[in-house]
Amino acid sequence: MSETVAFPQDRTCPYQPPAAYEPLRKERPLSRVTLFDGRSVWVVTGHTEARALLSDARLSSDRRNDAFPMTTARLKGLVNRRPALIGVDDPEHNVQRRMLIPSFTVKRTASLRPQIQRTVDGLLDAMIARGPGAELVGAFALPVPSMVICALLGVPYEDHELFEGQSRRLLRGPGVADVEEARRQLEGYLTGLIGRKRAEPGDGLLDELIAQRLETGEIDVEELVSLALILLIAGHETTANMISLGTFTLLRHPEQLAEFRSDPELLPAAVEELMRFLSIVDGVLRVATEDIEVGGATIRADDGVVFPASVINRDESVFADPDRLDWHRPKGHHVAFGFGIHQCLGQNLARAEMEIALRTLFARLPGLRLAADPALIPFKPGDTIQGMIELPVTW
Ligand code: HEM
Repeated sequence: MSETVAFPQDRTCPYQPPAAYEPLRKERPLSRVTLFDGRSVWVVTGHTEARALLSDARLSSDRRNDAFPMTTARLKGLVNRRPALIGVDDPEHNVQRRMLIPSFTVKRTASLRPQIQRTVDGLLDAMIARGPGAELVGAFALPVPSMVICALLGVPYEDHELFEGQSRRLLRGPGVADVEEARRQLEGYLTGLIGRKRAEPGDGLLDELIAQRLETGEIDVEELVSLALILLIAGHETTANMISLGTFTLLRHPEQLAEFRSDPELLPAAVEELMRFLSIVDGVLRVATEDIEVGGATIRADDGVVFPASVINRDESVFADPDRLDWHRPKGHHVAFGFGIHQCLGQNLARAEMEIALRTLFARLPGLRLAADPALIPFKPGDTIQGMIELPVTW
């Protein structure tokens, strides 16, 4: 058992699992890692065991539980008085999720595709007019999902600098105080917005929730703010990282990129394979509420459990030659969107955004290439969602 592997750790290459996780790959399906505060927790690395445990009600997502594992000191600052969805268990979780499901179905998401395409086209028009040369995160990867989630929720995009900046601080701020302040700023912003919308309704998801759930007394403002906060952050930060890191990865794999460009039919499979390969949410967290026997081990009540997607999604018993980016691999059910009751609510939307953004970017810019030494392009540290901090490109 490798009691000594620290978790989480930085990647050495932005699209590969941290080299320091290598011992974990050898110790499937379960081993132990040490968190920043010295606490030892379980790490699940086997694909079968991960899916079984992520759908096991004896593992809790409730951040209010004192035994919940914190992977960074600042994570404590994220927990508010009313955690929602991702931070609560059933039945509370189920009630909240059911309110949102109709807005995220495959059908509803498909109806957003023309609007996503217009957003992507508009951003590329502007970028090309200013070029050649751009910083792709700021010019494209971040504004695409940010504009889309604003339109879906009914949040004015004019406010994007505020919520993007505070979200960045929330996920990567230097300390607890900073994270708490970012959370307060975002909660204050959303409380104000909800107040204005009550007086003057619009036509986004927030407006629907106000009319159907808030005004009816089913939920209160605090709960609506918590839900809106998760949707706003999850809606732009994750997909932006997939677009930036996906572009970097494609540019570093010319053979796969050539095929990606020449065969539009490959698009859905390519997006799925990028999800598996990049595993940008690389550490879903849970705490056990009862003893659980799994993979020859016993997880005890109050034990912390971490699920590094980058290691689980490279389990060679499910994904042959797992370190190869391969558009043609058989469907292996990666866990990059999580699994079980908390499996990503926005996955259909994220897929549509990634497909349209990556296809259109590479179609319109046949000469797209990196404008800096790849080894010097900054990417995010291991204790947050993985992605590029900046991506200088030219064409
Ligand atoms: C490619 C981009 C995305 C990735 C990699 C991603 C990843 C994930 C993962 C791993 C979880 C499970 C967390 C857990 O089990 O603790 C999750 C949950 C969630 N995601 Fe995403 N996500 C993405 C995009 C989105 C988008 C666009 C939205 C839109 C609003 C969204 C909304 C949510 C919500 C609300 C949950 C919580 C669901 C629940 O607890 O029932 N995500 N996501």
